[in-house]
Amino acid sequence: MTAVRTDLLEQIEERIRNRFGLRLPPHRRAALVAELTAMDSQANPHRPALRLLSGDRPALARVAAALTNPETYLFRHGEHFAALGQLARQRRAAGRPTAVLCAGVSTGEEAWSAAAVLADAYGTAPGAFSVVGWDLNPGSLATAQAGVYGSWSAREGLKSHDRWFERTDAGWSVDPSLRSNVVFKERNLLDEIVEIAPFDAIFFRNVAIYWPRSTTRVVVDRLARILAPEGAFFFGPSDPIELPGWHREFIGVAMVYRRTDPQAPRVVQRRAARVAPQPSQAPAVDLSEVERFANLGQHARALEILTSRGTPTSCDELLWLGILRLNTGEPNAATRAFRRCVYLHPERADYHQWLALALRLAAEAGHP
Ligand SMILES: C[S@@+](CC[C@H](N)C(=O)[O-])C[C@H]1O[C@@H](n2cnc3c(N)ncnc32)[C@H](O)[C@@H]1O
Repeated sequence: MTAVRTDLLEQIEERIRNRFGLRLPPHRRAALVAELTAMDSQANPHRPALRLLSGDRPALARVAAALTNPETYLFRHGEHFAALGQLARQRRAAGRPTAVLCAGVSTGEEAWSAAAVLADAYGTAPGAFSVVGWDLNPGSLATAQAGVYGSWSAREGLKSHDRWFERTDAGWSVDPSLRSNVVFKERNLLDEIVEIAPFDAIFFRNVAIYWPRSTTRVVVDRLARILAPEGAFFFGPSDPIELPGWHREFIGVAMVYRRTDPQAPRVVQRRAARVAPQPSQAPAVDLSEVERFANLGQHARALEILTSRGTPTSCDELLWLGILRLNTGEPNAATRAFRRCVYLHPERADYHQWLALALRLAAEAGHP
């Protein structure tokens, strides 16, 4: 195998750390060189190394994906899923749906376990609940999407949720009826998050173990912004996470983090709008439908519903418009929507934050 200069490898490791949070232990260096070697038609790792260092982002992403630890299995930390079931039953009794985010979902076992628990509480009608799984590794996400697992993935059993997994020749196959409420997305957790709340539970487990603490702090702060006010954070038992100002709560034997003051993320005081929004001639848009598709990651569809009744005019609609435009890669259009929100309600801190984010993303995309 051709050697690669140590200083180049160190620079690549630094870039992986900065861009994805991953801190590579020394014994993973051989795997890094192996991936660089596999990326060159003549098995010369130097060429991809130089390309990567000259700013080739897909090459950097490929190397990072190859170096992740995808370890996961169905119903891992089973007490978390028992707790999720309890939360979901309470919410269902109150007539409320449950949306779960699995941040760092790997090959998907975590998301399908959550879906099975939620399906027990709600049934499987489309929109009854939602589970979204994010990961940076496209190979892992393809496995997640396929939803077929070997017996090693079920090493701790299916915790009385067997009916959602069918034993086939290929392995444990998730019940097709779960699929319409589960979506997987390639996502770097270090990127800005442009989804609006509310996830009612966020699973962020066994991801930050490999990250510097400063990175973990930034990402947890961002995730907190998309956790519903009364939502619950689930972390892995070895995750180095501190959340000052949050309280730990036990649901059964599972420990979750919740906000001390569920009202805190909301802006409670509202002054009268400077200019009353123009009443729309068209019937009001059902924002719960918009929200449902957005939470499933179907942003174009959500946008279509939102704009199907004419130009959005209320702040709630404009906020969704901006968020969806960000998600469909139109930061300039998002900026216009958020500006209007800020104009109508200058006291709303969250509108200013969205506007600042849109302006930054527009600048990054090279828009004026
Ligand atoms: C050990 S697995 C944990 C899987 C699951 N959460 C569990 O607890 O079973 C860690 C996952 O985090 C993902 N990951 C690490 N850094 C990431 C980042 N910056 N963005 C998205 N995913 C990341 C890895 O690709 C890997 O799939």
